[in-house]
Amino acid sequence: MFKNIRNQFPLLSRLINGKPFIYMDNAATTQKPLRVLHAIETYYKELNSNVHRGVHTLSQIATDAYEDARKKVQLFIGAKHAHEIIFTKGTTEAINLVANGVGKSFFKQGDELILSCMEHHSNIVPWQLAAQPYGVTIKVIPVNSRGELEMEVYENLFTEKTKIVALTHASNILGTINPIKKMIDIAHSHRVPVLIDGAQGIKSSIVDVQELDCDFYCFSGHKIYAPMGIGVLYGKEKYLEQLPPYQGGGEMIEQVSFQKTTFNKLPFKFEAGTPNVEGAIGLSAAIDFMLSFGMEKLIEHENNLLNYAHIKLQEIENLTVIGTAKEKTAVISFLLKNQHPADVGTLIDMMGIAVRTGHHCAQPLIDFLHIPGTVRASFAVYNNMDEIDKLLAVLQKVNVMLNKK
Ligand SMILES: Cc1ncc(COP(=O)(O)O)c(C=O)c1O
Repeated sequence: MFKNIRNQFPLLSRLINGKPFIYMDNAATTQKPLRVLHAIETYYKELNSNVHRGVHTLSQIATDAYEDARKKVQLFIGAKHAHEIIFTKGTTEAINLVANGVGKSFFKQGDELILSCMEHHSNIVPWQLAAQPYGVTIKVIPVNSRGELEMEVYENLFTEKTKIVALTHASNILGTINPIKKMIDIAHSHRVPVLIDGAQGIKSSIVDVQELDCDFYCFSGHKIYAPMGIGVLYGKEKYLEQLPPYQGGGEMIEQVSFQKTTFNKLPFKFEAGTPNVEGAIGLSAAIDFMLSFGMEKLIEHENNLLNYAHIKLQEIENLTVIGTAKEKTAVISFLLKNQHPADVGTLIDMMGIAVRTGHHCAQPLIDFLHIPGTVRASFAVYNNMDEIDKLLAVLQKVNVMLNKK
């Protein structure tokens, strides 16, 4: 099914460092298929116009395309209403929007919120900013040696003062897919709403926000074959109605005078200014791209690659895999004994394979694990077993080179 898939990704045909390009940095961002590139080109050649503003025909056509993209996302994640889908710049902006609003609307002095120890900085710092003015305490769920969250500890973190749980669907370092349905149910039994950071989870699971019953779900388009600068905040209507606007400007208002402004209805209340129409259309095309294979098939393909990589990497002397949870997304982090991840990553890159190294914007987890960072390979639809064999061969060379020094 995925044999000739690389042909659909023009960038993958370029040479890097004189070698055919093998791209394994998909947890950072994915490459874009022709279908998405064409959609963006068509938008600018045939539709470009500002949305929601003009009565002229082209503006209405562009508005319809933008709103169709919203409906596409609604169906993709199983939201009840299209107006529960807010277009943002990405996961980061979506979480900032919620943290800012929850802080202003719900936090009181002495409140508490719960995060996990495997959160990306995007799901830590916005909460710190929101918590600070009210002296809200952040409680943290630890991980066990396999990289799975300690569920018993989680259950015991709740008190009368807990206001929200914000949790990643899947870890960008460990790959762990968290049991979010169970964790949401536990939070709801304490009447606490839950935000899920779906930046890594959206590609590795079939997400149905109504079935999950999460209160907020955020993700970025660029990690699922869509352009950069477009992302999604899903929020239950009842919460979005209660949150104040995040930014002020055009589009988000109903009436403005110097005395008083009233705000537009959902979703426009949260979409100040000219939106990223091109991005929304690109995201819609990316969803069509994924659905043309079926999410089950994509997930199965990535799982096969992950399992193969786990088996193969164990053949390498001195290599330790970081993150061995039972449920994982297609992310494999590792370390070579006594070697800094940056040195290992640079050598792998010179041999034609793009991997990520460092703390991956999750420093608290790196500190918790007492490691200097990791080297991370992450897979997408265009990766295959041959590429993992090549990674293995390259790692074997790197191991010999670095250990000779
Ligand atoms: C788990 C997780 N959350 C949030 C983000 C932030 O996503 P973005 O930079 O697209 O807003 C990332 C990006 O790597 C991530 O992996």
